[in-house]
Amino acid sequence: METRESKMNFHTRKWVKPEDLNPNHSLFGGRLLQWIDEEAVIYAIVQLENPFVVTKFISEINFIKSPKQGDIIELGILATHFGNTSLTMRCEVRNILTREPILNIDKLVFVNLDENGKPKLHGKTAITYIKDRLNIKEITLNTPGEGPGDL
Ligand SMILES: CC(C)(COP(=O)(O)OP(=O)(O)OC[C@H]1O[C@@H](n2cnc3c(N)ncnc32)[C@H](O)[C@@H]1OP(=O)(O)O)[C@@H](O)C(=O)NCCC(=O)NCCS
Repeated sequence: METRESKMNFHTRKWVKPEDLNPNHSLFGGRLLQWIDEEAVIYAIVQLENPFVVTKFISEINFIKSPKQGDIIELGILATHFGNTSLTMRCEVRNILTREPILNIDKLVFVNLDENGKPKLHGKTAITYIKDRLNIKEITLNTPGEGPGDL
């Protein structure tokens, strides 16, 4: 059975608008990568509890299907490895209504930095959730790992 810890969170939803398109009238790949980079860095900042985090490495990007104007897509990120100063994540993007896959990235590596921009040990070994850190009781009926408060 899939555990709560291994479940990918699809937090961010995007509505594909005219300004996001390429000349072929489908979603511009650079726009999607910008959204993914931002989603991943926010995930890393929350997990590592440090705002000084940078993108170090992004593995092969598999663009599976082109979203069109008006499509609603959702971005999923999951931490797959906690290193000493780094955090590795996996990314999936899919159509929110059809669940058709749009993109996969196996490895996004972010590095935890100190105030001088040098790699810094983060001391984290597993995914944690803000509400657990703050000891907030569950107040929604969302499936664990899918609710907007689960990060
Ligand atoms: C991030 C940065 C400070 C790391 O410096 P560095 O000298 O490579 O640091 P290290 O060799 O100590 O590696 C740091 C971590 O990154 C990992 N790493 C380094 N190169 C990697 C690579 N090519 N692929 C995957 N992980 C890598 C290391 O394994 C290490 O992780 P660990 O501590 O968990 O084991 C430096 O490369 C940098 O400033 N890069 C630019 C970042 C940036 O501007 N990003 C935005 C681009 S638009």
